[in-house]
Amino acid sequence: MPAAQRPITIAVLGGGYGAKVPLPVLSGLDEFEPVAVWSRSPERAQALAATHDLQLGTSDVDELLDHPGLEAVHVATPVALHAEVAIAAARRGLHVLCEKPLATDLAEARSVAAAIEQAGVVGAVNYGRRFQETRARLLERIAEICGAPRMVSVSLVFDDHAQPDSRPFTWVQDAALGGGRLQGYGVHDLDLVLAAFGEVDSVAAATEVGVGERQAPDGTPRAVTAEDAYVIAIRFRGGGLGHVSLTATARHKRGDTIEVYGAEGTVTLDADKQLQWGRAGEPLQTEGPLKADSKAAYAQVARSFHAAIRDGAPPEPSIDDALRVQALFDAVRRADAERRWVAPEPV
Ligand SMILES: NC(=O)c1ccc[n+]([C@@H]2O[C@H](COP(=O)([O-])OP(=O)(O)OC[C@H]3O[C@@H](n4cnc5c(N)ncnc54)[C@H](OP(=O)(O)O)[C@@H]3O)[C@@H](O)[C@H]2O)c1
Repeated sequence: MPAAQRPITIAVLGGGYGAKVPLPVLSGLDEFEPVAVWSRSPERAQALAATHDLQLGTSDVDELLDHPGLEAVHVATPVALHAEVAIAAARRGLHVLCEKPLATDLAEARSVAAAIEQAGVVGAVNYGRRFQETRARLLERIAEICGAPRMVSVSLVFDDHAQPDSRPFTWVQDAALGGGRLQGYGVHDLDLVLAAFGEVDSVAAATEVGVGERQAPDGTPRAVTAEDAYVIAIRFRGGGLGHVSLTATARHKRGDTIEVYGAEGTVTLDADKQLQWGRAGEPLQTEGPLKADSKAAYAQVARSFHAAIRDGAPPEPSIDDALRVQALFDAVRRADAERRWVAPEPV
């Protein structure tokens, strides 16, 4: 088979989300051939390799990156390790699909972008939530109908951190490893806001740890340092306000609600995944319920990554998209720490 038509050999670094979504999805796509997986535990890596019929399961990152014939990686490690692994992969000439956020901060994200550019490989970042049907249709309707934003609201409510024992302490509760709900969900919603409206003038933000102690998987009590709730206030460039919020400690969870009140019309997504939209002077129309399928969304990211590698198409979401989110994420962190409005660094 000519090289351009062969599936891309890919390795997945990460036995959590990496094993839940990327490995099974990549295994089902003609465009890819997953050949290797990394986990911290050699036993888990080997078990995953056996389940997905891969050539290699290892806890040694270098062994994985040096695997003969490997062309690409999906980096799904804790956030604080993204940069080190992505840069090591790019320097070996491997194409890099990285989890969101690209890195812990903008400076580190820029060093990943530079390594990818210098190596001449393709880079992409998995902001795949924007491809879920709910959000993809919302973005289409916003572009068609809303005009300039007057008020934007994104609100997420989960109950999975409500109890000290509802989730074990892992890197997700550890700020030093890039944990927190902002890295989990907030960056997807900042990506959505940027995809819809492009330019943010400044942000104010507050974060909180509501449940302050959890047990590590070995039973040791650990202090939670990464937020389980946040609220971000946004001033759009050229006018308009917005807020993006999440709590993970509610006693009753609720579907995402997203509301956009624009100068020309309105688009909303309700907690039951129904989209409503209408132009000024017209009644609102309803569409849905729509799907929010994370595997289908990831398949779209993976296909775009494939087209970028084989056909030179621009990858979507791109490294530039990820740098813009990262600049906004840095501004949110600074606004929270310094309790003031902060303008994102231009990218
Ligand atoms: N795009 C999305 O929708 C989405 C959804 C979920 C997660 N993610 C992203 O996926 C990445 C991984 O998240 P996850 O939920 O999969 O995390 P996870 O399950 O806790 O861990 C992922 C991998 O990192 C390893 N690991 C865990 N803690 C570590 C530590 N302290 N030092 C070194 N390695 C460690 C784990 O090892 P073991 O295999 O031994 O457990 C696992 O292989 C993050 O970047 C996250 O943002 C993205």
